Amino acid sequence: MSSNESVEKHYSVHWQEEGLYQAPPEFIGQANCTDPGIYEKFSLDKFPECFKAFADLLDWDAYWHTTLDTSDAPCWRWFVGGRLNACYNCVDRHLDKYRNKTAIHFVPELEEEKIEHITYQELYRRVNETAALLKDFAGLKAGDRVTLHLPMTPELPITMLACARLGIIHSEVFAGFSGRACGDRIWDSESTVLITMDSYYRSGKLLDHKEKADEAIKSAEKQGQKVDKVLIWRRYPGTYSSQTPVVDGRDYFMDELLKNYFSVVVEPVSMPAEDILFLMYTSGSTGRPKGCQHSIGGYLAYVTWMSKYVQDIHPEDVYWCMADIGWITGHSFIVYGPLALAASSVIYEGVPTYPDAGRPWKIAEELGVNIFHTSPTAIRGLRKAGADEPSKYNYHFKHMTTVGEPIEPEVWRWYYNVVGRKKAVIVDTWWQTENGGFLCSTIPAVVPMKPGSAGPGVPGIHPIILDDEGNEIPPGAGKAGNICIKNPWPGAFQTIWKDKERYIETYYRRYNRDPNSKDWRDWPYMAGDAAVMAADGYFRILGRIDDVINVAGHRLGTKEIESAALTVEEVAEAAVVSVNDEVKGTVPDLYVSLKPQAQANEELAKRISNAVSEVIGKIARPAHVYIVSDMPKTRSGKLMRRILASISNYKDVGDVTTLANPKIVEEIRRQVQD
Ligand code: PRX
Repeated sequence: MSSNESVEKHYSVHWQEEGLYQAPPEFIGQANCTDPGIYEKFSLDKFPECFKAFADLLDWDAYWHTTLDTSDAPCWRWFVGGRLNACYNCVDRHLDKYRNKTAIHFVPELEEEKIEHITYQELYRRVNETAALLKDFAGLKAGDRVTLHLPMTPELPITMLACARLGIIHSEVFAGFSGRACGDRIWDSESTVLITMDSYYRSGKLLDHKEKADEAIKSAEKQGQKVDKVLIWRRYPGTYSSQTPVVDGRDYFMDELLKNYFSVVVEPVSMPAEDILFLMYTSGSTGRPKGCQHSIGGYLAYVTWMSKYVQDIHPEDVYWCMADIGWITGHSFIVYGPLALAASSVIYEGVPTYPDAGRPWKIAEELGVNIFHTSPTAIRGLRKAGADEPSKYNYHFKHMTTVGEPIEPEVWRWYYNVVGRKKAVIVDTWWQTENGGFLCSTIPAVVPMKPGSAGPGVPGIHPIILDDEGNEIPPGAGKAGNICIKNPWPGAFQTIWKDKERYIETYYRRYNRDPNSKDWRDWPYMAGDAAVMAADGYFRILGRIDDVINVAGHRLGTKEIESAALTVEEVAEAAVVSVNDEVKGTVPDLYVSLKPQAQANEELAKRISNAVSEVIGKIARPAHVYIVSDMPKTRSGKLMRRILASISNYKDVGDVTTLANPKIVEEIRRQVQD
């Protein structure tokens, strides 16, 4: 967004402030945090030393000497001098007390397949064997990057933890992403090893996943990045469920290789706190995805604290976060946070509505899940497909989370009344891939819930709303602005992989007071969301201010979709706009104009839509492809996406008389709406 455009234009959420809901006494009675003084303990005058409490949740090989080093501002370095191992903290340290406790409950999508209960001992063994293989067979060592393109099976966290054990930087690509999207990430991270799976279940079908690996490697190689080894987990060990050939000297089956590493133990490598744990690519306003670089010590300390005090995880809890580990939510709140606390974390392979909309509640009953974590899109979808389903199952949630998009108060109330039976607290957690863990949320036993509001900043996070000139918009002013965080925090990403300039430009430049300053106070973090702050300090998040759209809680760059459309020969121009959707929150509509000789027809529209799926993945498939005769443009030639968005959303297009081609607006409106 250009600096002279008002953020208020970008409102996508229109509800007002709602009343407050108190946590049930049974919840408060058992909560990890009931201290009303908790916010005070993390006030800015105690910054940064207050974050010692986060780090103290971990086991360190060596204590740090500097809590926060700002010498390379705004690349913050936390717990400098400290050494630890993330895998040790998530696995080994629990063995004495919890060896026989379930670490991971794996629920296959097919109901006839048995749920797997992996104990901490079993996890320890499998992680060690995998680490031995990565070290000795694949030759990987601390600091190397490895790309994972794994679906939701236990092999994904096992591989992540095996990497963490050796200090290898993992870069997991969401399995739903295409081979080409995976190839781009292999290239950017310079991985020489790809770890994938032959197949997995989605909506009752065994998908051939290995075919994406072949495509990924081709695409990475075209860009100059050679992959030496493809390590393939098999959904059914011993059986290869892909149609693709096994490439001699490149492709290897993990189950076969692992036979050589039976019971091998690999010592966890003691890593500097500031080294990299993983890369997680996310979309921004240009076509190229950003590799968010997360640290070992700061990140792990942050997600562990949030899991303990916001998620209220105790080791006795059965915790189910229904996100995909291929997104940051899954990294932080299926794998690292819960396992650092010795929780039992559920991994579900498939879609929530398979075979019907009662599945999540059935799983909750079967496993005794008492903490449930999902997105508004999933809640809306489950409500639409089976609003009465929860009442058919006997489960008891004490705590429920929503994440990823604004949740409408009406949907919040269904979640609270019907799913939670008024007995569970809800936390609406606002944060981003870049942040490692929550930024705004209630601490559930300390401050009340408010439907449709994420809540105040979590302890240690000091959000502020700034207008376009950098002035603070006071609480209760009823005016939207850019939500920023005044202070650094340990979970924040360190930089964009290999692109510090873009990191500074995107998140810090706008409100920076002095580019040479080493004082964190001069570097507010700009999240890229518009928000309003109520008089009581609760934040309502309104949506992105940049060219990012949030489809079903998944973040996509409009530019990424547009450049995918442009791979079709006939397409001259492409514009993606975000359209409100009853279930998915927002979905992309794609407008294209064609080169002079090209013919508009349905077959072409379909080819364009397929191109988007092939380049990015099915999640990016446009809701509609409109082939238009021309795009609305200003006299200076700027394509007016805002007008197309108004048409797609059946809103008033406003005054268009100053456009270079005002007549096209009515033509497109008729094409779309009539
Ligand atoms: O626009 C905000 C929205 O999701 C964006 C971040 O997306 P991603 O990096 O994929 O991370 C998603 C999960 C952490 C934000 O910029 N968002 C996230 N949580 C919320 C939200 N919008 C409203 N309410 C939330 N609770």
